[in-house]
Amino acid sequence: MRILAISGSLREASYNTLLAHAAAALAPAGVEVEVYDGLGSLPLYDADLDGEDAPAPVRELRERIADADAVLFVTPEYNGSVPGVLKNAVDWASRPSRGGAALWGATAAVAGASTGQYGALWAQQDLRRVLGIAGARVVASELPVPRAADAFTDGRLRDPLLEQRLRDHLEALVAEAAPIAVAA
Ligand code: FNR
Repeated sequence: MRILAISGSLREASYNTLLAHAAAALAPAGVEVEVYDGLGSLPLYDADLDGEDAPAPVRELRERIADADAVLFVTPEYNGSVPGVLKNAVDWASRPSRGGAALWGATAAVAGASTGQYGALWAQQDLRRVLGIAGARVVASELPVPRAADAFTDGRLRDPLLEQRLRDHLEALVAEAAPIAVAA
């Protein structure tokens, strides 16, 4: 099974990108987590650019999502919601509408890290709602990593309990995706 992890931060030293890589390192046996790094290449959504000959980074994003068995979105929180760059990627992946979109019927989960004490919970709640509207099947739980500046050491989560929660979160995503991956 293949999971595509999409971090919603463009920042080189992003805690959310770290969290995406930490998830990759903790993937259950038989599961490969690839971290997407094309977020910054996506143009701003423009319906005039969309269609069969959409820009190459858009086509690549759509193919990567369609080829994955599940998607893990790892989001920062900006002013209580999802950063614009990540919402932009979701908007591209939600078109063409209904059955034609990469996100339609995709299995997804969200996680998030913030430097505050709530671990991007509002952003994760918003993202789950947005993904549901785009037609994704979204795992009900969230995975908040608060106080992210102190949460990592050598690319791993410092708190073993949090690490176990991330493992459980990945297991929940895999369990949600497994019946569809087998049928495909
Ligand atoms: C933030 N940050 C933030 N944190 C939070 O918990 N709730 C919030 O609403 C916001 N709002 C916010 C807005 C903007 C514009 C920025 C730049 C930052 C802080 C945020 O959690 C912190 O910068 C993280 O480190 C961002 O994630 P990455 O880039 O490390 O992945």
